[in-house]
Amino acid sequence: MQKNILIIGACGQIGTELTFTLREKHGSDIIIASDIREGNENLMDSGPFELLDATDYDALEEVVAYYEIDEVYLMAAMLSATAEKFPMRAWNLNMNSLFNVLNLAKEKKISKIFWPSSIAVFGPNTPRDNTPQNTIMEPSTVYGISKQSGERWCEYYHNKFGVDVRSIRYPGLISWKTMPGGGTTDYAVEIYHKALSDKTYTSFLRTDTTLPMMFMDDAIRATLELMESDPDKIKVRSAYNIAAMSFTPSEVAESITVQIPEFEITYEPDSRQAIADSWPSSIDDSEARKDWGWRSEFDLERTTNEMLQNLRK
Ligand code: SER
Repeated sequence: MQKNILIIGACGQIGTELTFTLREKHGSDIIIASDIREGNENLMDSGPFELLDATDYDALEEVVAYYEIDEVYLMAAMLSATAEKFPMRAWNLNMNSLFNVLNLAKEKKISKIFWPSSIAVFGPNTPRDNTPQNTIMEPSTVYGISKQSGERWCEYYHNKFGVDVRSIRYPGLISWKTMPGGGTTDYAVEIYHKALSDKTYTSFLRTDTTLPMMFMDDAIRATLELMESDPDKIKVRSAYNIAAMSFTPSEVAESITVQIPEFEITYEPDSRQAIADSWPSSIDDSEARKDWGWRSEFDLERTTNEMLQNLRK
């Protein structure tokens, strides 16, 4: 029997592409998109949509019962830069939505959950290069604290109540269909838009700030591969490290210059610099490779080609 899937936060950067991909794969009718606000026209026209506040347990339970939902992808969250401005709102959104979904699974109202974690779970005392799966974490941002706590709760609900929850620590994600909002890695999307519209970009991170990044197609494939894996293969029930590439603002600028020679980048670091400085520069994803066969496909050159080609259309 085909299982109905609910995507919470379907209008966001990841949610939009996840919704499209799942609808292509399984048909539109069984993929229910939801968000606190409506999304772009393409998304709204692509299948069923519900306005939903994921921090409202009763409303969530009602949608799950109405559509006979079996699987939930919880993509709603407040990202790192915005969370520093609104700490309590970020904590409430990021944690209460997770508890609501975990509790639905504990009560056997749904049977599988995807919840995204982030490289933000790491902090200034974490080894920065090739950061291992298990290491010192000590996140120093509101967002990172919420993601690390979330990881602990996912593992707890799995061990204690048998909840089938799966998670990935996403690096900065680069995509052309929907803009990210409120993150520290957002520059790596904005830069492509500005390169095409203005031929110049002012980076809010320093020239030499190396961060782990990934093209959205890789991130979506990782998510679906993890969700489709046999449960016995999933040894990590907090969240898996995954990796594709690492680069600095000047390296991405250089890759753009190959196609747009007149493009110029300038630097005006702001408060997001401190957040970036507390995160790893590269990630060791050997556990994900070993347990469920993860392999990235997009490097910086291929990402730049995809971004410029699609944004030009
Ligand atoms: N891309 C996110 C952010 O910058 C990290 O998960 O907040």
